[in-house]
Amino acid sequence: MKPDTALIHHGYVAPQDFQSPQIAVHKASSVFFPHVKAMRERNWLDKTGYTYGLHGTPTTFTLEERLCQLEGAKHALLLPSGLAALAQVNLALLKSGDEILIPDNAYAPLKSLAEAELAHWGITHQYYDPMNPQSLAESIGPQTRLVWLEAPGSVTLEFPDLPALLRICQSHGVLTALDNTWGAGIAFSAFNCLPDDSLDQRGVDISVHALTKYPSGGGDVLMGSITTCRDDLAKRLKLSHMRLGFGVGGNDAELVLRSLPSIGMRYRAQDASCRRVAAWCLQQPAIAQVLHPAVASSPGHAHWRDLCAQGLVEDAPVHSGGAAASLLGLRFHPRFKPSQVDDFCNRLTCFKLGYSWAGPISLAVPYDLKTMRQMADPSLLEGGYVRLSIGWEAADDLTEDLAQALAAFTQEN
Ligand SMILES: Cc1ncc(COP(=O)(O)O)c(C=O)c1O
Repeated sequence: MKPDTALIHHGYVAPQDFQSPQIAVHKASSVFFPHVKAMRERNWLDKTGYTYGLHGTPTTFTLEERLCQLEGAKHALLLPSGLAALAQVNLALLKSGDEILIPDNAYAPLKSLAEAELAHWGITHQYYDPMNPQSLAESIGPQTRLVWLEAPGSVTLEFPDLPALLRICQSHGVLTALDNTWGAGIAFSAFNCLPDDSLDQRGVDISVHALTKYPSGGGDVLMGSITTCRDDLAKRLKLSHMRLGFGVGGNDAELVLRSLPSIGMRYRAQDASCRRVAAWCLQQPAIAQVLHPAVASSPGHAHWRDLCAQGLVEDAPVHSGGAAASLLGLRFHPRFKPSQVDDFCNRLTCFKLGYSWAGPISLAVPYDLKTMRQMADPSLLEGGYVRLSIGWEAADDLTEDLAQALAAFTQEN
């Protein structure tokens, strides 16, 4: 054997008895079979064997199993981003002529996916007001196949009555898919959020996560997941996943596996910091409204309490129980000019200007809600709006940064 060939056919075998906290990173396109019979018989659909890197490796299968553990789900799929996971659910389950319903405050790229790509394929959509279950009930028609849910809504963080929305969908026999990135499997249980024991199914049909956020936690990975307890849906999703080639690489899967054991600690620590920042923001005269589900005056606070804080009643401006992701929205007084809100953002130093959330560094994004929302409470659209994502910095440093940036509102520009 020539050295070039010997290097490639080196007699490496994976170690059998090497136990350590993290699993090995397995990367492959090709996976070898001992003979043709094995090649023909191995079934990539049931996870009893490996066939090709795109269909799974020991590393990606382990991550899928752990995500099932986190959520109490039976099946999981990994995709290259959270948005890819949202797209995959639509592509796997819908056909031309079907209709989907999307909450008005949904993650905006899901709305543009529906408005552009899905519309091209003859799949229609309607928006519903997630804060008014009747709006959902009235929107469900004969062509409605799938209802998207988000708790709370992206950007403005209004918390819907999720059990009420689910009951409506179940009574119409319509599939439900929740973008569960905010809850992250920590704040509430997507597959077990209906209290009625007599129900066959006590939660959503499908849960989607942007693993990019809390599960990865480092602000350095893009990945998404789809989980379900239903065998029939899992099969349809997996087939579509295979046909579209939405697999993920081993290195990225390993990064999520490394962060996943600390997700509960990070979620709760960032939550505590975020609530301190929210309480401080409530005291600031330039800020007309603080949006965060644990803030008593925030839309849907009672629904959040029922689902995520076990119905505890607490007479405080910011509820201290339960769990919430570390996002908050600031609506500034309408008397301030948009340029002052921009100036506020530009003055921030500890907070960086950037998209995404749940990573180590606190982030700020200004939004023009008027261009994003059709059914919002009109008062929400008055004044500039900035969403903050709270990272791992000390809360005092963050409020100090906000305090110096608020000087933008005391100056004319
Ligand atoms: C609620 C929500 N869902 C989905 C996504 C998409 O995730 P990704 O950035 O991995 O595509 C995001 C990203 O910001 C998000 O905030």
